[in-house]
Amino acid sequence: MSLLELDGVKVHFPIKKGLLFDRTVGHVYAVDGVSLKVEAGETYGLVGESGCGKTTLGRSVLRLVDITDGSVVLDGTDLAKLPGEEMRRFRRRLQMVFQDPLGSLNPRQNIESILSEGMIAHGIGKDQEERREKIKAILDKVGLPSNALARYPHEFSGGQRQRIGIARALVLEPDVIICDEPVSALDVSVQAQVINLLEELQEELGLTYVVIAHDLAVVRHISDTIGVMYLGALVEEAPSDALYAEPKHPYTKALMSAVPVPDPEVEDKRERILLTGDLPSPANPPTGCRFHTRCPWAQAERCSTERPQLRDIGGGHRVACHYAEDIASGKLQLTKGEVVSATREGVDDNPSEDTPETGAPAEDTPAAETPAKIPAQKEKPAEAEKSAEAGEDAEAEKPAEAEKAAEAEKAAEPAEAEKPSATEDKPAKAEDKPAKADEPEAASDEAEPSEEPEKAV
Ligand SMILES: Nc1ncnc2c1ncn2[C@@H]1O[C@H](COP(=O)(O)OP(=O)(O)O)[C@@H](O)[C@H]1O
Ligand code: SF4
Ligand SMILES: [Mg+2]
Repeated sequence: MSLLELDGVKVHFPIKKGLLFDRTVGHVYAVDGVSLKVEAGETYGLVGESGCGKTTLGRSVLRLVDITDGSVVLDGTDLAKLPGEEMRRFRRRLQMVFQDPLGSLNPRQNIESILSEGMIAHGIGKDQEERREKIKAILDKVGLPSNALARYPHEFSGGQRQRIGIARALVLEPDVIICDEPVSALDVSVQAQVINLLEELQEELGLTYVVIAHDLAVVRHISDTIGVMYLGALVEEAPSDALYAEPKHPYTKALMSAVPVPDPEVEDKRERILLTGDLPSPANPPTGCRFHTRCPWAQAERCSTERPQLRDIGGGHRVACHYAEDIASGKLQLTKGEVVSATREGVDDNPSEDTPETGAPAEDTPAAETPAKIPAQKEKPAEAEKSAEAGEDAEAEKPAEAEKAAEAEKAAEPAEAEKPSATEDKPAKAEDKPAKADEPEAASDEAEPSEEPEKAV
């Protein structure tokens, strides 16, 4: 049995309307039947456009969102069915590293306080002295000096803050760490350092990762297995090398065809599949194959009526496409879309909006392989955008389900008195001081601290 097994996981968010009575007028099918297995000591990379449900899937594993259907089995225990108190204990074994390092760290707490919080909640260390020693050891592992203990998040650069985020997960000695876009807020050169750190830690501590990213280059370097998501479901899954060598699903093919190849000869011959149509809204997903509205190989009737299951087609590949074999053999011709030379004038090879301006990619890093960003944001239709905003707002305001999770968290939180006193009297405003540039990155593009940072879970 694998360490972590998801079976048919669905997360459907109700869309409510009405002034007096909350009527459910529909659902956002954020995650709609995902089954996957993560082996102990390995890394599962999850890629897909923004809004395809990656974060929701990650959060559902930790039960930070309610699972509508399906099971999440960690080491033989179905987390979806665990009562709150038992789930709280299991949460130590499952930790999350968030995308925005600053937003996920409370600016008013020093590092010792931030890292102690979860330890106290889970009863790790008999006193603060013992916890401090452990924190120092972990800080050393993630490449931070022990004097970081008394400092505040704003005193660190973005890369260092993400190291703090990783340390916060590590002090709880988790089995699985879910890294949600762990480097996408960082400068390219720092991205590589953080990814390398994650790999070193995995080797040393035998960790198991789920790495979520919209950046194919990031997951390629670190993943043993990669799953590609489209509109709440996996469309393809394969060992990393096999997926990059020969993507089988039309969606993966299109994504990969946008990735520039470092070899100039190969690059000259590279062909790019141009998709037609916008990313549909997860509140109103297409019937049949979810990808049929944009698929260049879509076949009349069957593709629009029959939803393809993720099936094994050999070579470690699982593909959700009725015609994967015929497409691979060339038997099936394009019905729409276009295949163009990638070097054709006017084709934007790297349509990322957020390519950092500073920092040369380090040589032995995934960043050096030219990160290929999935141009999702641009394509997101207004409706999907709205529901995304609704999601974020809802989170900020703590809707019923988030509140439940928060309550459970609260129960786990240490009493105020237990917190180191240094945290209370030194309010720190991130924008007051520039980040200390120990690492070569621009601090200016970093996110402002959110009002309510994510707590250690
Ligand atoms: N709490 C929520 N309420 C309603 N919709 C949500 C909520 N959280 C996320 N969504 C929606 O679910 C879909 C998937 O979002 P998300 O998991 O954040 O995608 P990704 O991480 O791949 O960008 C989006 O359409 C988003 O708007
Ligand atoms: S099932 Fe049809 S629409 Fe879906 S990916 Fe395959 S060919 Fe395209
Ligand atoms: Mg996300």
